[in-house]
Amino acid sequence: MSWRDYWNADSPIYVSDRHKTLHYALIARDVAALVPGPGATVLDHGCGEALSAGRVAAACGRLYLCDGAPLVRDRLSRRFADEPTIVVLAPEEVDGLPDGSVDLVVVNSLLQYLSFEELDALLGLWRLKLSARGTLVLADVLPPDLSPLDDVRALLAFAWQGGFLRAALAGLVRTAFSDYRKLRTELGLTHHSEAEMLDALRARGFAAERRPNLGHNPKRMAFAARKA
Ligand SMILES: C[S@@+](CC[C@H](N)C(=O)[O-])C[C@H]1O[C@@H](n2cnc3c(N)ncnc32)[C@H](O)[C@@H]1O
Repeated sequence: MSWRDYWNADSPIYVSDRHKTLHYALIARDVAALVPGPGATVLDHGCGEALSAGRVAAACGRLYLCDGAPLVRDRLSRRFADEPTIVVLAPEEVDGLPDGSVDLVVVNSLLQYLSFEELDALLGLWRLKLSARGTLVLADVLPPDLSPLDDVRALLAFAWQGGFLRAALAGLVRTAFSDYRKLRTELGLTHHSEAEMLDALRARGFAAERRPNLGHNPKRMAFAARKA
């Protein structure tokens, strides 16, 4: 099984419906804050179920939601069927967007499932699709020294604030015996250092800088990049 196959099913990393709801609400809040203006075109690549994407759509002119998993795309298409400015795309369909037409590309919590080669190819694609003053934001990037324990701590802090601590503790036990844990051991997750990320972005013609992360885990990294 690959990571892309793995995501074509429900994942135990969301420990409860409340966790999932609060997670996507937080991401949507942070993404909406990045939108440069009401007419902007936004691409959320590797968007997951994007439960609160309506909030991002309300802040921009058009929102492309791209995900690799057919199951996720089916759910997105059904959820946002009545939102005319939200368009659901398979990764292959991003190629077909007009070059220079996207003002903001957001990629949250995807890079750990990509090889260095896949990331490099996507950086080229995102640069092609970005408008002249467009921004690429890569977030929730795993630094080399991030341990599973750091993720556990961040989840428990989020759960404490969000009132789902009991579900989080039970969920951590479930995750420890799940396919996610097995795949994490077999395939691993891709980690990047800050310098590696800045080099990879520079090599693809971006001027980039480190930013505070989106979402609940401040130990993971984020980067904002523009065409150099
Ligand atoms: C951890 S989830 C992140 C979802 C969302 N961005 C968030 O921050 O909650 C990773 C998502 O990336 C998708 N994904 C994995 N590999 C992908 C790829 N190569 N292209 C596009 N999406 C991919 C998965 O289907 C999954 O929905």
